[in-house]
Amino acid sequence: MTTYRAATTEIGGLFPLLAANGMPAVGARIGYDTLAGGAFYCHPVEWVLRKLCTNPNMVVFGEPGRGKTSVVGALLLRMMPFGVKTLVSGDVKGEYSPLLRELGVTPIELGRGLRTRLNALDLGPLTARWAGFGVARQREEIAGVIGRWVMLLAALAEAAGYRATVTDEMVLSTVLRTLLGVTDGYSGLRPITIPQVHHELAHPDQRLWREARFASARQFLDHCRGITDTLSNLITGPLAGLFDADTNFDLDWDAPIQSMDLERLRSRGDQAVAVALTCLGSWSSMATDLQADGDLRIVVRDEVWRQMRLGLRAVQSVDADLRLSRKDRKIQILVMHKPSDPLTVGAAGSQEVTIAKDLLALCSTRVLFGQSTRVASELTEDFALNEKEDAATTGWAMERPGRALWKVENRPGYKVQAVLSSIERRLFDTNAQLRPTPARPPSADGGTGR
Ligand SMILES: Nc1ncnc2c1ncn2[C@@H]1O[C@H](COP(=O)(O)OP(=O)(O)O)[C@@H](O)[C@H]1O
Ligand SMILES: [Mg+2]
Repeated sequence: MTTYRAATTEIGGLFPLLAANGMPAVGARIGYDTLAGGAFYCHPVEWVLRKLCTNPNMVVFGEPGRGKTSVVGALLLRMMPFGVKTLVSGDVKGEYSPLLRELGVTPIELGRGLRTRLNALDLGPLTARWAGFGVARQREEIAGVIGRWVMLLAALAEAAGYRATVTDEMVLSTVLRTLLGVTDGYSGLRPITIPQVHHELAHPDQRLWREARFASARQFLDHCRGITDTLSNLITGPLAGLFDADTNFDLDWDAPIQSMDLERLRSRGDQAVAVALTCLGSWSSMATDLQADGDLRIVVRDEVWRQMRLGLRAVQSVDADLRLSRKDRKIQILVMHKPSDPLTVGAAGSQEVTIAKDLLALCSTRVLFGQSTRVASELTEDFALNEKEDAATTGWAMERPGRALWKVENRPGYKVQAVLSSIERRLFDTNAQLRPTPARPPSADGGTGR
């Protein structure tokens, strides 16, 4: 018989007499609160219902290797017994794929040499549900979809070095409406792709340039050249074929987890990855919003900082995805490097910084893993970090992976050590590739000496 020994600080959840630590014992058990000694649980939706915070979204900060992906993986895995499903919206390094495979789910892979296509302007579940909506609901849905897509196209344009103007946005919105068939009296929605949008801009019909109040087609073409050419580059650039054709896979919404693995895309460069994340983010938010199975869902955007680097529009597009999300039964998790990531898009006090701060306000739960420098001063106030908490992220949290300060709105932060099971450690071992491969295959009992 095997005997396990542990201190009551570690198995606090089994010992009934330990004092509570302020956060309810609901949802995923993450690890232990190093100050109180009790177990620390996370269930963002329950937190909202119990009025501990105002929204179920989370943002995770930390330098590479601190344990961000592992804690997100553990959270979603430990939420599964409660019926919570997950969509990983762009797994840049293929880090979630071992977990999916262990659960018997095949990740959707996008990239070089693969045949999977995802239409960036995919209507997802909206097409099927359209006819069942009343006019008011249809109007509302379409405004949301077009708002998201205009933001997406503007972000893609900015990634290619062109900043879309207000007029460009108005024109894009008109073109999208026309292509969708919304102007025809809301009968049905037509599926559209980016090459079609480009075609409309490059060959504007009279109705379009008149509606956009241009004097002639010539004037329209001259004025919209920037946005038109940018979209054209997108169709022929390194992402050609990936996001501009009809979606050719079905997402199994009943699976406990789904993921879009982008590992094979990395060879196409950082820019391509960032653009891909932007497309996936927009698509995932819309698709999960409309999924009517009543299930609670987690949407993970790991490495979202790569997307933020594209500039203001990309940050705005993340912001729009969160803000336009009308579904409360959804937990969005953003993973970034530094709290200042969204701030790098502009000077202090600028519109950019305002948006970045808004973005943080849209995420009630902030998980701060180790940082070698202080949290950017503009944000200390927004995070309501006191000196001790700030020191915890630069000192204590740096000492071991899995340590983080969990701040739920303005409540005092919890110093939590995440604990992984041996299976989780194996599945989330992102350093596996760095280890020398054993000369002999591992023995039959699977022991690798780790
Ligand atoms: N709580 C933990 N306990 C032990 N090891 C951990 C823990 N969290 C992460 N690790 C290990 O640290 C390494 C980096 O973790 P990872 O989650 O990939 O970090 P990040 O996403 O911040 O770059 C991995 O090999 C992982 O197995
Ligand atoms: Mg990671």
